[in-house]
Amino acid sequence: MHGLQSLSLAQYPFSGTWTASSNIDPARIGNNDLLKNARAILPVHLYGLPAKMVPILQIAERYNLKVIEDVAQAQGAIYDGRRTGSLGHAAGFSFYPGKNLGAFGDAGAVTTNDDDLAERVRILRNYGSHIKYYNEVKGYNSRLDPLQAGFLRVRLKYIDEWNQRRISVAQHYLAMLRGMSAQHIILPFAADDAGSVWHIFPIHCEYRDALSLYLQEQGLATLIHYPVPPHLSKAYRWHMFQGRPISHN
Ligand SMILES: Cc1ncc(COP(=O)(O)O)c(C=O)c1O
Repeated sequence: MHGLQSLSLAQYPFSGTWTASSNIDPARIGNNDLLKNARAILPVHLYGLPAKMVPILQIAERYNLKVIEDVAQAQGAIYDGRRTGSLGHAAGFSFYPGKNLGAFGDAGAVTTNDDDLAERVRILRNYGSHIKYYNEVKGYNSRLDPLQAGFLRVRLKYIDEWNQRRISVAQHYLAMLRGMSAQHIILPFAADDAGSVWHIFPIHCEYRDALSLYLQEQGLATLIHYPVPPHLSKAYRWHMFQGRPISHN
């Protein structure tokens, strides 16, 4: 497996084939000194697969931290009987057109059950003001365009149907690929109760570039997710989170 061009955080033997999830691994953050200085944990439900929220919430409680879900890739996914976006203290949604629930331009939302936080987010999105020209805090111009809200309201009705279609396509891929040798390909983690809505069907492949080229010739687009981890990107290279070995994989 060392020859693979990309490997991820947690790997599980599954039906005789190796499968992988790139979500945050509660076993690795549980006793991490970083948490002592942290204020929040931000689980990303990456590629549509809900993060393991029960143990993450337990860890957060132990360290008195908030949990903020990143639901950009997992709108409509269900974890432990509840929708992603309703599991932590707050959640961020992206409705970028390519997402499972996409608008026709950029859009996003925050969900929370905390009334004070909701009010804070409301003023932050509107220049930090309740009353026009009276700025209470430093804010942003980040209101949801009403036209996009209108489109999303209609599209929201179809999210479960669209996700179901993604699930069937992913099941088809899994069935077709399951026999492949783990030396060549690692499939995405896909336990039946994991609840992925398959924003992406990510695989790890020894011959990634050659496979990508072959698929392109067959008319199938692929993308490398993600070519550069944030702490190695030019913008954040200075950041204190240097040497994160997991994201290097
Ligand atoms: C996991 C994740 N978080 C956050 C974002 C940012 O969303 P937006 O571009 O709508 O701000 C994205 C978008 O690509 C994403 O995939």
